[in-house]
Amino acid sequence: TTFDIAVVPGDGIGPEVIAEARRVLQSVLDAASVAVTWTEYSLGAAHWVETGETLSEATLERLRGHDAILFGAVGADPQDTRIPSGLIERELLLKLRFSLDHSINLRPARTYPGTATPLAGDPEIDFVVVREGTEGPYVGNGGTIRRGTAHEIATEVSLNTAHGVRRVVADAFSRAAQRRGRLTLVHKHNVLTHAGDLWRRTVEEAAAEHPEVSWDYMHVDAATIHMVQDPARFDVIVTDNLFGDILTDLAAAVTGGIGLAASGSINVEGSAPSMFEPVHGSAPDIAGRQIADPTAAVLSGVLMLQHLGLAEPAARLEQAVHAQLAEWARDPEAARGLSTAQRGEALLARLG
Ligand code: NAI
Ligand code: MG
Repeated sequence: TTFDIAVVPGDGIGPEVIAEARRVLQSVLDAASVAVTWTEYSLGAAHWVETGETLSEATLERLRGHDAILFGAVGADPQDTRIPSGLIERELLLKLRFSLDHSINLRPARTYPGTATPLAGDPEIDFVVVREGTEGPYVGNGGTIRRGTAHEIATEVSLNTAHGVRRVVADAFSRAAQRRGRLTLVHKHNVLTHAGDLWRRTVEEAAAEHPEVSWDYMHVDAATIHMVQDPARFDVIVTDNLFGDILTDLAAAVTGGIGLAASGSINVEGSAPSMFEPVHGSAPDIAGRQIADPTAAVLSGVLMLQHLGLAEPAARLEQAVHAQLAEWARDPEAARGLSTAQRGEALLARLG
């Protein structure tokens, strides 16, 4: 079989980091005799300025046909007044997420050799947040009445379905079973009683099927404290869309480095391709200068290989990243001033 990958380099540093990710992925796949084809799609702010397309139905249909999507970053320079604010987020990023039913946003949060966390004692951190991706308060289920008056009323109703919660919780339990066997449900069920009750019952039911996984419950406000004071306690966190959005940014901050944070937007049923991308954006402040760190894009590629069942090349690439970061941690002079491409080449050399 040939793996058929769509590549969306996007804007700014997106194309710079994706070029390196593609090279190292190609290298580990070649070594494992796995055939892969890459199809590049031009999408993003620059593409919109050129063509007026954010994401057409035709492009969406073509994307659906691939096994997975490797995504760089999209988004305009905020200084660029030609692009309406929020347009690309809504009509490209959110549209992809909802159209391809990316019900899970997967965010590993871990430290690597040489990464300095902002935390006391520089702890080793290795947990993963399984965030629900298509429901919660982000579905646009609300309205405004008496707008602009002193009696304006705005609602934003969180949507939680048994089906949506169950598939996320099931995925989180199977990940926990393959990791250290610990799962934490994060919610706020003391005040958000209806949704909280559904999440809690769903976790209890899944827990009965996974005796090898121990689980606990944490309120989201308490979770922010624990994530800063004792992040090593977490293995798998499962939570809703809004809490997950906030916790994953906090997780990226405590693990010390936007240049390293990878993510997967997963379609758990396999009815459409999942998408893998660095957490960072298009970084217009450093774009075009070959100084962006490609590691987050490479690690997103590792998540993609894992998702495609290519465990062996995934492990090889991940180990190469670890070894390279460890070497640069021992010899920071060697890493100083390396270009994006030189960082990719260092990995390629290590992969032999
Ligand atoms: P950003 O992540 O692009 O940049 C934040 C800061 O981190 C900047 O100082 C940047 O130079 C630095 N940085 C980011 N990635 C880096 C890397 N690989 N190596 C070294 N430094 C790195 O976030 P910002 O500035 O808020 O957004 C810029 C644009 O990106 C906006 O248009 C925004 O909408 C878009 N964006 C797109 C995302 C996506 O495609 N999923 C996610 C986040 C933002
Ligand atoms: Mg966010």
